[in-house]
Amino acid sequence: DWTMAEFRKTKIAEIRAQVGDARVICGLSGGVDSAVAAVLIHEAIGDQLTCVFVDHGLMRLGEAEQVVSLFRNHYHIPLVHADVSEMFLGGLEGTTDPEAKRKFIGKTFIDVFEAEAKKIGGADFLAQGTLYPDVIESVSFTGGPSVTIKSHHNVGGLPERMNMKLVEPLRELFKDEVRALGRELGLPDIFVGRHPFPGPGLAIRIPGEVNRERADILRKADAIYLEEIRNAGLYDAIWQAFAVLLPVKTVGVMGDFRTYDSVCALRAVTSTDGMTADIYPFDASFLSRVATRIVNEVKGINRVVYDYTSKPPGTIEWE
Ligand code: XMP
Repeated sequence: DWTMAEFRKTKIAEIRAQVGDARVICGLSGGVDSAVAAVLIHEAIGDQLTCVFVDHGLMRLGEAEQVVSLFRNHYHIPLVHADVSEMFLGGLEGTTDPEAKRKFIGKTFIDVFEAEAKKIGGADFLAQGTLYPDVIESVSFTGGPSVTIKSHHNVGGLPERMNMKLVEPLRELFKDEVRALGRELGLPDIFVGRHPFPGPGLAIRIPGEVNRERADILRKADAIYLEEIRNAGLYDAIWQAFAVLLPVKTVGVMGDFRTYDSVCALRAVTSTDGMTADIYPFDASFLSRVATRIVNEVKGINRVVYDYTSKPPGTIEWE
């Protein structure tokens, strides 16, 4: 891709000019954006870059292992794997308000970066995989009133005390362009083609209180849903698909027994940039297969519903 080859060259020069010989720290979320940003910055400044994978215990099934292996084994880029799930899950205890969750998670990410930066003797720059839609949406909703819909934890709002400047090489790009750049940089297809995953992770897919037990339940349901989507050959036709664990219990019957367990909602949308989205119209037989598997295989869920709301008026994530 000629455009992306040019972009790569230009950005590498820009990053070198901005950073000089200073140290940069980059957070990896498990998503495509931060991975592409990290690989690009590493190409520009080599070991002046330290990548930190903040493992908040709210990743999808197997995701932490995949990120660590991509960086260490595929790219040979040194990576700090910060296992800070206790800090995140402990701190989220008792918090149910969506914005309060987002704010806590954003702040805790900064705390972790700060601690990791200290360990390497300080860093002047923090790198982030912020995209153009992130910049827009954190300011105002397209065509709507000028209010914050959700505070994306990866945009702006760096506490003064941090004393770090931002490196955001993807700030002008849309998702499809980031994917093209990722391919240009040699990222494996399974990584480049991945559905977007929000920085706050599963915390914003567990309305109400988040804890390890609920995160484990959701991870299992989500993995079954995505496995069925892949098996049906639908993964690439969908922008994003995920399960949401609702703070609602309903009565069910399994064999001869009454059950009283949580409801799981499934969401799948098509989109080009995440700013607007349409629901993905699965066949009824597909949805009932997934519902049956989730209820049979995931302890703690006894009912599955499908979210039929487009964006707008719904947002993609539930919080
Ligand atoms: P919404 O829910 O606002 O999501 O319609 C639009 C797209 O953004 C992702 N998203 C986030 N990504 N940090 C991120 O990096 C966040 O805080 C965040 N919140 C939402 C969401 O998954 C969807 O792709």
